[in-house]
Amino acid sequence: MGNQTATNKQLTEQPWLDSTAQPFIVIENVSKHFGDFVAVNNVNLNIYKGELFSILGASGCGKTTLLRMLAGFETPTSGRILIDGIDVTDVPPYWRPVNMMFQSYAIFPHMTVFENVAYGLRKEGVQPAEIEKRVADMLELVQLGGYGKRKPTQLSGGERQRVALARALVKRPKVLLLDEPLAALDKKLREHTQFELMNIQDELGITFVVVTHDQEEAMILSSRIAVMKQGGFIQVGMPKEVYEYPGSRYVADFIGTVNLLEAKIESKDGDQIVAAAPEMANHVRAYTDLQLEVGDSVCIAIRPEKIYISQNEPDNDDDDRVAGVIEDFGYFGNLSLYRVRLESGRIIQVSAQNRRRSVERFLEWDDKVFLSWRVRSAVVLTA
Ligand SMILES: Nc1ncnc2c1ncn2[C@@H]1O[C@H](COP(=O)(O)OP(=O)(O)O)[C@@H](O)[C@H]1O
Ligand SMILES: [Mg+2]
Repeated sequence: MGNQTATNKQLTEQPWLDSTAQPFIVIENVSKHFGDFVAVNNVNLNIYKGELFSILGASGCGKTTLLRMLAGFETPTSGRILIDGIDVTDVPPYWRPVNMMFQSYAIFPHMTVFENVAYGLRKEGVQPAEIEKRVADMLELVQLGGYGKRKPTQLSGGERQRVALARALVKRPKVLLLDEPLAALDKKLREHTQFELMNIQDELGITFVVVTHDQEEAMILSSRIAVMKQGGFIQVGMPKEVYEYPGSRYVADFIGTVNLLEAKIESKDGDQIVAAAPEMANHVRAYTDLQLEVGDSVCIAIRPEKIYISQNEPDNDDDDRVAGVIEDFGYFGNLSLYRVRLESGRIIQVSAQNRRRSVERFLEWDDKVFLSWRVRSAVVLTA
């Protein structure tokens, strides 16, 4: 995967590019300290109505803490949070227009599916007839119509997850916070549920904030992604932006697979640079908007799927190229992944769609190959 972009139908425009658009959630200079430990470090973020916004980062980087502050289960040490124009920083959870689906979505084992979903409405004193209708509608929406009388033990993991989702949605929050909502599901079910989640969000128009450590999940689901590291955001953007234009080695490496080459700029012409890359025993060309000088050290990032692998030397001088030997490869049906050793010993990862017909020879171990890529595919990083 990788270059998939979100198909968030709700947002045909991009309100975050419109300086007059009103954000629905405003996180302003928010920090959270636990004693001496800084779990969330001065975070600023605007989220717009109808977004499916993902907070992506490694375990322990502060994602759950940030989400708990949005829900009201944790109070910021400093900063403030506004939802729908109202400062909710000191508002308790039950008065916020927010619902949270927890990492371990505990549903009540002794209650039926129906009663699990109805629970919050009963506590609010909603009329029984109204409860009947709203729960039935919600079960229909998560494709559990007819499951109302079952007990949680009679459900699969994916079905239990949908009960938890229905329970969180039935109270019609303006914002739904989801903490690793799909982590407990196996791969197939997760993929299926990802699309269901997008459809449900699309249908209800609720703003979703999803926390995940799974970059693929964030890429598929999101209108935008914030990449979090050690309590702070290091890049915020649409999935395609953070994938195609990572701002740092960390983001390039965290989202998808990437080849990172250390290089030194040798010449410069407008926005094009030529850099010496010792591991390639060659020069690499790239385009960049960064203000760089001859002699500057940079890192050149090239995604595996941007590299063409061939046995014949490419005759296109517009592309950059390097020779190597296949060290290892994996066949994944539609895709093959190659690890190619350059003369310097450096391994370059390449992925190739298997478009070859069976009469053509597949590449094998120790085959001598050429790698080439468009100069525009090389991304220059300094951080
Ligand atoms: N109540 C708490 N007291 C002390 N430290 C905490 C508390 N909650 C979280 N932390 C610490 O804050 C950091 C971030 O935690 P968390 O937000 O749960 O990370 P994530 O969800 O990204 O895995 C972790 O190092 C965690 O141990
Ligand atoms: Mg967490």
